[in-house]
Amino acid sequence: MSSTESIHDTSHITYQSLLEGNKTFVANTLKEDEQYFEKLANGQKPPILWIGCADSRVPANQITNTRPGEIFVHRNIANMVIHTDMNMLSVLDYAVNVLEVKHVIVCGHYGCGGVIAALTSKTYGIIDNWLRHIKDIYRLHAFELDLISDEKDRANRLVEYNVMEGVNNLCKTSIIQNAWENNKTLSVHGWVYELSTGFITDLKVSTTSSNNMNDVFKFDF
Ligand code: CO
Repeated sequence: MSSTESIHDTSHITYQSLLEGNKTFVANTLKEDEQYFEKLANGQKPPILWIGCADSRVPANQITNTRPGEIFVHRNIANMVIHTDMNMLSVLDYAVNVLEVKHVIVCGHYGCGGVIAALTSKTYGIIDNWLRHIKDIYRLHAFELDLISDEKDRANRLVEYNVMEGVNNLCKTSIIQNAWENNKTLSVHGWVYELSTGFITDLKVSTTSSNNMNDVFKFDF
């Protein structure tokens, strides 16, 4: 078996192996710092909120070389920011107003199964309704996307638009706008992770105010 195939062989991962893995994690961590868990248990003050895809290959901490306590994480299928999603809004509100994070990062990834699925007419069950949001983003950019003949490239461009839409949707929330109104230092960023290289690309759509937002989305506080 080649090394590229072995990554996909998860047959050694079992319910029991996770518990064994936990013991190894604790032992290794305590070797470095005997008080590590006691200190971590005292509270969290992560400066970052991460909104990413549920895909098992895009774990926020590992790909950014960060540790427990450093990133507050929300993940869902295709890293979407839907303004009526109570789960996302609760995470965002807590991150911004209680943890007072300085950065919110929407991180998509090329080859996202959710985005690829949304570009087809296939039905997958209840998730079709969730992926509908991506079809709506496709509709906004259909002219450009339809000019991209390569299927992979088209899906990857939609991955980028989905992240940009997520950034815009975050900025439109009363939570983010309220933080800006109160002069809190808060930036919203859009990133895309490349599975085949491990590198993150900054889409350079970072936003620190509602200045460029259409008036209809701006709240008067
Ligand atoms: Co994905």
